[in-house]
Amino acid sequence: MIDEHGPAKNMAVKTIPLAEPGPNDVRVRQTAIGFNFIDVYQRSGAYRLSLPSPIGHEAAGVIEAVGSDVTDLKVGMRVAYMNAGLGAYTDMRNVSADKLVPLPDNVSDEQAAATIFKGMTAQYLLKHTCPVQPGDMVIVHAAAGGVGQILSGWAKALGAFVVGTAGSDEKCAIARAAGCDIAINYHSENWVEKLLEATEGRKARVVYDSVGKHTFLHSLDLTQPFGMVVLYGAASGPAPEIAPEILNKKGCLFLTRPSVFPHNADPERFRANAADLFDAIGRGFVKVQIGARFALEDAPAAHELAEGRSSSGAILLVP
Ligand SMILES: NC(=O)c1ccc[n+]([C@@H]2O[C@H](COP(=O)([O-])OP(=O)(O)OC[C@H]3O[C@@H](n4cnc5c(N)ncnc54)[C@H](OP(=O)(O)O)[C@@H]3O)[C@@H](O)[C@H]2O)c1
Repeated sequence: MIDEHGPAKNMAVKTIPLAEPGPNDVRVRQTAIGFNFIDVYQRSGAYRLSLPSPIGHEAAGVIEAVGSDVTDLKVGMRVAYMNAGLGAYTDMRNVSADKLVPLPDNVSDEQAAATIFKGMTAQYLLKHTCPVQPGDMVIVHAAAGGVGQILSGWAKALGAFVVGTAGSDEKCAIARAAGCDIAINYHSENWVEKLLEATEGRKARVVYDSVGKHTFLHSLDLTQPFGMVVLYGAASGPAPEIAPEILNKKGCLFLTRPSVFPHNADPERFRANAADLFDAIGRGFVKVQIGARFALEDAPAAHELAEGRSSSGAILLVP
């Protein structure tokens, strides 16, 4: 939990008694927790929380008890969640039953905790925000990161031509292994020109931009007329403000700033999206790459690893 926003060391382990699950709740004994970059924004105060606050959005585990009105979930079932309110950084918690999805046999608890938040993000970005078609050129910024790798591999499996960016040559190699046809180091000089040289001047039908401040204006320049810039994060800081007229000048572009939570707020839609993700995992479209594991009480070290930009793939916390 955090009592105050600030650096990773502000997180503290607390012991809090757990009530019996309410009529529509389920008690989950958690076996794996997924780290997500939003945890950093919320811990640091880039996104303000009402304090003191628990932290974390995503975990998998086993049902230990069910409330009196819960009919479709049973004790012993393996489940995961990504939109059940803050508090995933824990060994045990009560979760509203309609926020849980049962896990199929081919998805382990660790795989689920490593993918349910990031994979559901890739799912809505590729299927709902800008449905990607075979032959589309897609740019994925931070393509070696957690969401970035899933997005790149899944877009490739959908038939897109995928161009990734990342912050080092090593990360570019990871991005290519994840599915990018081309990967450009955006810390190198003139990286925008290098990208356009590599694509022979072709621009993207959609740019998925989670980096924000350092990439956003370039994203507008790398999008083809009538294409879409999807700003879905701010890892380098908030994107600069722009006048709407710039979208006209850059080629009648579409701009959106979506979030995974509204896309999965409706329980039926959440389970349908999760079924699509599990299907993609089963077909090998989504590969789960676990980059690092930490004990739950070492969550500060996990945050420092992510903020230091030396991680690739998913980071897990193990209770
Ligand atoms: N809107 C939504 O629905 C939604 C949902 C989930 C995640 N997201 C966003 O998607 C992004 C990826 O999330 P993730 O959890 O998978 O994290 P991640 O990609 O594993 O980590 C963030 C990546 O951003 C890049 N980055 C660029 N500037 C950075 C900076 N100043 N500090 C740290 N990293 C920086 C780093 O890659 P390089 O070193 O290669 O630059 C880093 O690997 C995040 O921005 C997150 O907020 C949005």
